[in-house]
Amino acid sequence: MTLYKSMRFLDLQERDQSESSCRDSARCSPQVITPSGRLLLSTTLAGSPTRHYRPFVSALDPYQLRQEFPILNQEINGKPLVYLDNAATSQKPLCVLDSSRNYYERINSNIHRGVHRLSQAATAAHEAARETIAKHLNVNRPEEIIFTSGTTDSVNLVASSLGRSDQFQKGDEIIVSGLEHHSNTVPWQMLCERLGITLKVIPVLDDGTLDLEAYDALLSERTKLVSVNHVSNAFGTVNNVIHICSQAKKVGALTFIDGAQSVPHFGVDLQSFDCDFYAFSGHKVYGPTGIGILYGRYDLLCKLPPWRGGGEMIKEVTFEKTTYNDPPFKFEAGTPNIEGGIALAAAIDYVNNLGATNIAAHEDALIKRAATILAEIDGITLYGPDDRAGALSFNVEGVHHYDLGTLLDQMGFALRTGHHCCQPLMARFGITGTIRASFAAYNTIEEVEALGKAVEKALMMLR
Ligand code: ALA
Repeated sequence: MTLYKSMRFLDLQERDQSESSCRDSARCSPQVITPSGRLLLSTTLAGSPTRHYRPFVSALDPYQLRQEFPILNQEINGKPLVYLDNAATSQKPLCVLDSSRNYYERINSNIHRGVHRLSQAATAAHEAARETIAKHLNVNRPEEIIFTSGTTDSVNLVASSLGRSDQFQKGDEIIVSGLEHHSNTVPWQMLCERLGITLKVIPVLDDGTLDLEAYDALLSERTKLVSVNHVSNAFGTVNNVIHICSQAKKVGALTFIDGAQSVPHFGVDLQSFDCDFYAFSGHKVYGPTGIGILYGRYDLLCKLPPWRGGGEMIKEVTFEKTTYNDPPFKFEAGTPNIEGGIALAAAIDYVNNLGATNIAAHEDALIKRAATILAEIDGITLYGPDDRAGALSFNVEGVHHYDLGTLLDQMGFALRTGHHCCQPLMARFGITGTIRASFAAYNTIEEVEALGKAVEKALMMLR
């Protein structure tokens, strides 16, 4: 397998330029890395795309992209579909659909254990997919990339494996944040209950960001693990993972970053914040469902015990004793989602073809425009900070989010309502839920403008 150690020494900008074939290089702006580990175009930080609004503000042409997403070309209740539920799952481009179909039409076969041609082809494609993902996250070696079924599975893998290592003792502490999805809370809670560990929570400030001073104060020699999301699925808050990881390391704690809502929206360079674990889901980044990624530092993966037993994860089995395979296979018992991994790599190639920084700039323009339009509505509350990524949550005084979502559906708009699997966060803000618009590269400013009008219309019916 190819090693990616050399990539550590590439300048970030150079790396992004070499990996992403910007469709119109003349329109690509210089890239910057933010304190939260985001690779962005510098224009998005200066704010020019939003202050000087024009229908096409980035190097992406969403209208052209939409031709690659057949599902978007349909009507709902006689109205054109406006799909704004991308934080729940994104739609899939033809290249991803073709990848899945090609796999089953041409090379479907089990991997790693066949001498025949199909098995070798499937194994090569599966391992090439691992390398694509390793390169995309800029990790040291492909063996640090474990295929899972999704982010939830990745969190459970680490919680289960760490729980059976000698990492924790009674009285130790795990820190999560008040912005977490249940999948980055409940597995740790279960572990705490089992081992007598305490769960500590970084508080959320009124603007929907984390109270990092309180975080610093929570850290102590008892802290053994810090697990936070990179981007909040509910509010779109982008967390300062560079600070979070570096502070955790000072007390010797491990770090787990849930990247489910970051990888779809901007370039993520794991070398820039040096976490121990990172996870994301394929289906939120234009890939298929049922496939996800766990990155783990190689030396850690070598030390951790496996979590599921079965084929593939072993070196040698006797009834007296079993020895385990090396990472990543030690954590991949049974036949994996072969097609899913290959199609996920096709999705990652798709993102790199568009340019992760171009996607970030385009979505930044969409979300800022949406916030500007919605903020003008009487009685509206927008949650989260101004510098959101991916998702924009709101409520309107006197109107239930579910009713608003239902009326918007009748007008062809797909938004999500409810607690977004973040009940503690909703409780923190004294609400039962929000209505959430979440964006992808194929969304247009026209759709955002239409959303504003549709919300106004729905409110006239509800008020
Ligand atoms: N976690 C997904 C969401 O935020 C389902 O919608």
